[in-house]
Amino acid sequence: MIAISTVNVRFVVLLLLSWSSISSADATLNLEDQLRTLTQNYMQFKESVETNFEAKFHQVEDKNRQLEEKVIRLESKVQRLELVIALRENTVASKRVDPLTGRSSIPRTCREARLADPSLNSGMHWIDPDGQGVGDDPIYVHCDMTTDTTSVPHDSEGPMDVGHCADPGCYSKAVTYNASLRQMAALADLSGECHQSIKYDCFFAPFELDGIAFSWWNDKDGSAKFFWAGANTDVHTCQCGIDGNCVESFMKCNCDSAAPEQLVDSGVINDKEILPITRLNFGRTGQEYSSGVHTLGRFECTGQVAVTGMPTSCEDLWRIGHTLSGFYSVKGLKMVESVYCDFSKLPNEAGFQKWIGYDDVKSAPVYFYVQRNSAFNTTNVPIPFQISRLNIGNAMNLSTGKFTAPVQGTYFFSFTGHAQFPTSSSILTLGVGLYLNGNFIGWGVVEEYNTVNLQETPLTLQSTLNLQKGDEIWLQITLISDGVILFDNNDNWTHFTGYILEEELIF
Ligand SMILES: *[C@@H]1O[C@H](CO)[C@@H](O)[C@H](O)[C@H]1NC(C)=O
Ligand SMILES: *[C@@H]1O[C@H](CO)[C@@H](O)[C@H](O)[C@H]1NC(C)=O
Ligand SMILES: *[C@@H]1O[C@H](CO)[C@@H](O)[C@H](O)[C@H]1NC(C)=O
Ligand SMILES: *[C@@H]1O[C@H](CO)[C@@H](O)[C@H](O)[C@H]1NC(C)=O
Repeated sequence: MIAISTVNVRFVVLLLLSWSSISSADATLNLEDQLRTLTQNYMQFKESVETNFEAKFHQVEDKNRQLEEKVIRLESKVQRLELVIALRENTVASKRVDPLTGRSSIPRTCREARLADPSLNSGMHWIDPDGQGVGDDPIYVHCDMTTDTTSVPHDSEGPMDVGHCADPGCYSKAVTYNASLRQMAALADLSGECHQSIKYDCFFAPFELDGIAFSWWNDKDGSAKFFWAGANTDVHTCQCGIDGNCVESFMKCNCDSAAPEQLVDSGVINDKEILPITRLNFGRTGQEYSSGVHTLGRFECTGQVAVTGMPTSCEDLWRIGHTLSGFYSVKGLKMVESVYCDFSKLPNEAGFQKWIGYDDVKSAPVYFYVQRNSAFNTTNVPIPFQISRLNIGNAMNLSTGKFTAPVQGTYFFSFTGHAQFPTSSSILTLGVGLYLNGNFIGWGVVEEYNTVNLQETPLTLQSTLNLQKGDEIWLQITLISDGVILFDNNDNWTHFTGYILEEELIF
């Protein structure tokens, strides 16, 4: 606009100048000249306006294009940034931090993945069944988050024609999974159940004929298997054989029938100990009219082998999710045991668990040492004590003379007393018995014959006993001759001590 108005002003000035220079003499000619000049000027002006306009327009266009380019550059920058953020979030999501180890973790199964992040959709996911950071690399599997199913893809999923060949197993196809056998073994170990479907569309293509097996599959260890449904069995069978509805009632598989019709055997093998199927072998399709087509499902696992209660082994620890090799305490039969777990191995591999020994675990310390400060000669009552050197755990009650086991376990007790015998020509006896809940366990006995002078003899008693919580232990004089006493005169001659050796942990 500014450019145009400047031009306008210039034109008006030009016009005025033109008019003022006209003379009256040659007015007509002059006028024509003037007009021509004017026209010329006008044309020039128009042109200049137009070129000016065009130039300006081009400039604006240029600027516009530059701006557009800038916007595009910015947009792509924003997109890149969004991608970076998304990737970062993704990485964060896929590398959850293990609260135990503080390390990022990849789930071991689809179930674990869903539990850790319920927002995850069904689809392909990375898992690491044998544990992150140990064993084999993570595997890329399909997760059905609605059923918690982990399925391992393989290269033989579609229907595959076995072609024509006559001999047993003349058609043989290795099944290649997108995961190592070790990872699949770990997956099976962790899962509640695993299965794999197998279908065989057949026309005059028996698995077995006249006792000759023409078809079989190989399990994870390479062993030949002749059943096409159900769990591990050495019997050749198909689903119809299990259900009792094969086309030929006396046969175990539809395909074994000699009937000239298109038949099918379809089943699910569900023995996780021998899956996955590693090779398919078929035969007896040599005839031109014979045909066999196999369709093998993915190796699928669901559920989880639950560890209930306290872990009793490295395998339990592994199932719980431990992956750091090292020493662990586990629940033994009665005591806590110490084991070394090598989590770079799988539970069935040698050296996975090494037993180290018992853990000296006590829920509370229990030991006592008590003494008497006076003589005692009362029979058949618990011997009470007066001096307590130690009574940790307060299991020993001095006034009642009873020790009460605070926990189940093995305990040791020792008693030493001092028998004092008067002068006598007959046999004198002192017997101190150890009692468990009132039942006699054993005693320490001392005897003297023909004591001319006052005789003093030590009496001892030791015992190791397995006690239940609440069991009572005490000492009592079970046999004493007249005049004999368990002597003590505040001179520390009577000793009763005990402690727990092993605590039994009842879970
Ligand atoms: C197979 O696994 C690899 C990684 O181990 C992965 O990159 C690839 O996409 C997987 N292929 C299929 C078909 O799932
Ligand atoms: C010892 O047992 C008696 C009788 O049961 C009880 O009254 C007393 O409190 C007990 N002493 C201790 C220290 O527990
Ligand atoms: C027990 O000892 C007391 C005093 O020391 C004595 O009087 C009593 O006769 C003794 N009893 C027996 C059975 O020896
Ligand atoms: C026995 O032990 C008690 C308590 O420590 C003490 O008072 C007493 O003097 C001791 N007796 C002797 C003979 O040392």
